[in-house]
Amino acid sequence: MKTKIILLGPPGSGKGTQGDKLSEELGFAKLSTGDMLREAVRDGTLLGLKAKEYMDKGALVPNDLIITLMKEKITSLGAGMGIILDGFPRTVEQANALGEQVDIDLVLNLDVEDKELVNRLTKRRTCPKCNAVFHLEYNPPKKTGFCDKCGSALVLRNDDREETVLRRLKVYRENTLPLIKYYEKKGLLVTVQGVGSIDDIFENLKKAIL
Ligand code: AP5
Repeated sequence: MKTKIILLGPPGSGKGTQGDKLSEELGFAKLSTGDMLREAVRDGTLLGLKAKEYMDKGALVPNDLIITLMKEKITSLGAGMGIILDGFPRTVEQANALGEQVDIDLVLNLDVEDKELVNRLTKRRTCPKCNAVFHLEYNPPKKTGFCDKCGSALVLRNDDREETVLRRLKVYRENTLPLIKYYEKKGLLVTVQGVGSIDDIFENLKKAIL
């Protein structure tokens, strides 16, 4: 079984949704840089204050901040732990730094078209407390406006407004898309169709892992 896994894919492709399901089923740690940064913003830490201006614009947070953050998190887990990385790496510089620390054995690339991504993100609702994600049509919460898991009021993320979503897609194409070739050359990439039911996609991802 593969135990050091990257979830790659554009904003809204389902990395968080599938990462949570995989982490629960396999007992792996899920490390989401987006969740960590949003937590830092909420807590008002120095990292959060620095990251917020980039995140609100839909830009990437500088590599040095992200690489330092992830080095510490991965070290704290210990070598034997299964890991699912969601949202990291996002640049070749981040991928090189990760490669020095961990032997990645699988990169799962979720493939979804731009039009669908915009629809998913502008209608996504997120729990600011436990980071659970929902969609107004595709994956609605049981009680409108409230998180199924912890009961908190759901919010529209600042960067899920249409203008910022379009900017994030551009940033993805310029900075993160090259990682597809990067990991293809290493023989680690498996592309999975990211459109269809959440459960079907989950089954396809598991087949690549087990
Ligand atoms: P981050 O939080 O990582 O955002 P992202 O990569 O843009 O990804 P998303 O969380 O938007 O989408 P997702 O793929 O997880 O999709 P989800 O499962 O939620 O990063 C945010 C910001 O932080 C960045 O812009 C940057 O500023 C900064 N940052 C983070 N990491 C960084 C790094 N490494 N370097 C530099 N900066 C960094 O699903 C989306 C919606 O679709 C949901 O509503 C969901 O319910 C729905 N959905 C999921 N699957 C399906 C399906 N199969 N069918 C229909 N709907 C579905």
